[in-house]
Amino acid sequence: MKILIAYFSKNGHTKRVANDLAKNLKADIEEIVDLKDRRGLKGWLESGRDGMKGYLTEIREIEKKPKNYDLVIVGTPVWGWNSTPAARTYIANNKDDFKNLAVFITSGDTKPEKTVASLETVLNGNKVLTFEGWSEKELKDEKIYREKLERFITNTTKKNIF
Ligand SMILES: Cc1cc2nc3c(=O)[nH]c(=O)nc-3n(C[C@H](O)[C@H](O)[C@H](O)COP(=O)(O)O)c2cc1C
Repeated sequence: MKILIAYFSKNGHTKRVANDLAKNLKADIEEIVDLKDRRGLKGWLESGRDGMKGYLTEIREIEKKPKNYDLVIVGTPVWGWNSTPAARTYIANNKDDFKNLAVFITSGDTKPEKTVASLETVLNGNKVLTFEGWSEKELKDEKIYREKLERFITNTTKKNIF
């Protein structure tokens, strides 16, 4: 079973979850890099707007091809109550190449459901297999963090996909 974790992370929360998932699942990992300049107040305001409005962006060319994996797990922060332009663009660019797609989300406190639904809009009618979300408070609570990590891994790998 070959698994790829592809994540976008601006401040490191999503990267931390991606690294822990990769370690636990013995998965390959790919960082999704947004090529738009998002520094400073202007960058922050535009990021919130771009997230909220569902905009796509330009991302760095990927190194690992999703079609070579049985399962791809995409990680994104919440921006503007929505997914990030970089994660959306990654999914949109590769939508025909996912055998199975799962999603994880980190946020201030926004629940993951709407973010997952926004990612599914670029999947052409396909649905994600499973998802999990961590708020910033949950990321700081080691017990809850680990419980959710284990739940996500169990839910994702118990699906009869391999
Ligand atoms: C531009 C921007 C917009 C954000 N909008 C939201 C939001 O609408 N709801 C929320 O709960 N958190 C929001 N956040 C907080 C992030 O989702 C949260 O800190 C996340 O864990 C950051 O992930 P990262 O460290 O991997 O970049 C926003 C953060 C940024 C930078």
